[in-house]
Amino acid sequence: GFPEYVKIVEVGPRDGLQNEKVIVPTDMKIEFINQLSQTGLSVIEVTSFVSSRWVPQMADHTEVMKGIHQYPGVRYPVLTPNLQGFHRAVAAGATEISVFGAASESFSKKNINCSIEESMEKFEEVVKSARHMNIPARGYVSCALGCPYEGNITPQKVTEVSKRLYGMGCYEISLGDTIGVGTPGSMKRMLESVMKEIPPSALAVHCHDTYGQALANILTALQMGINVVDSAVSGLGGCPYAKGASGNVATEDLIYMLNGLGLSTGVNLYKVMEAGDFICKAVNKTTNSKVAQASFNA
Ligand code: HMG
Ligand code: MG
Repeated sequence: GFPEYVKIVEVGPRDGLQNEKVIVPTDMKIEFINQLSQTGLSVIEVTSFVSSRWVPQMADHTEVMKGIHQYPGVRYPVLTPNLQGFHRAVAAGATEISVFGAASESFSKKNINCSIEESMEKFEEVVKSARHMNIPARGYVSCALGCPYEGNITPQKVTEVSKRLYGMGCYEISLGDTIGVGTPGSMKRMLESVMKEIPPSALAVHCHDTYGQALANILTALQMGINVVDSAVSGLGGCPYAKGASGNVATEDLIYMLNGLGLSTGVNLYKVMEAGDFICKAVNKTTNSKVAQASFNA
């Protein structure tokens, strides 16, 4: 059955902006995050402490982290691929972090320049340091429903990597359909496998909408008892190391669906649309959210 409450993890400032050609000025990112903080969202992923040579869009991570107003009741996780990133994140004031692995060897190499095994060793160091400092760590598993380089990925491989991250102390595992190729069928098969090892209360889904399946896939996950969903305002997003992948499911569209199901999120749809409008103007784009398009045309 459906959960009563769904936690939305807003990834727009990170996943959304990491893939934009236009580098958004730091003060606009800060304003964007401050606006999102006043919508009722409880988790906003702010930035990534990765190499600025790899992802120049996130080069201002420290300024963004220090510049935002941290509202009570809102958590502000950041991506940290290794100890170097972790220490910089902590120095900038981060109090929650995410490590990001993959269920595909080729994607791991392209994205973070190491094998899955090497990445797990780095993540173990990061999560261990985080635990010593009482900093909660989340774990991503990319390519959970397919890989841009290898194609099909087995549910067994996704389960194995998820179990490793959960075992090292990640409190939540976010299963990423990085290139948005999944369907309710493959989502169900993948979750059935992962849920044999990890309770649904410790799982999240992170759906890109390349093939238009994101909301259907999310609905499938909700029906299976998952109650944490990642999304990005305006449907921004993509990964620089997954060419052709389009944006995340739009937060506006997700909230509209959840409202219709009578599931509470605590998030104000209208305020999210306003933040979406702000960031679309900043990157000179029209929104990918169907709900925002329909509302602005009404
Ligand atoms: P590397 O080059 O293998 O690292 O990069 P290295 O340890 O060999 O060090 C080489 C240089 O990088 C050194 O500098 C280090 O200091 C520096 P040099 O001495 O040559 O001047 N370096 C760093 N600089 C800043 N921050 C760091 C850091 N670590 C080393 N943390 C690294 C490894 C992971 C850093 C690199 O591959 C990288 O930055 N990759 C980018 C990964 C990324 O951001 N991808 C997008 C996010 S993941 C995603 O979008 C998927 C997700 O949304 C879920 C889904 O949709 O599936 C999460
Ligand atoms: Mg993503």
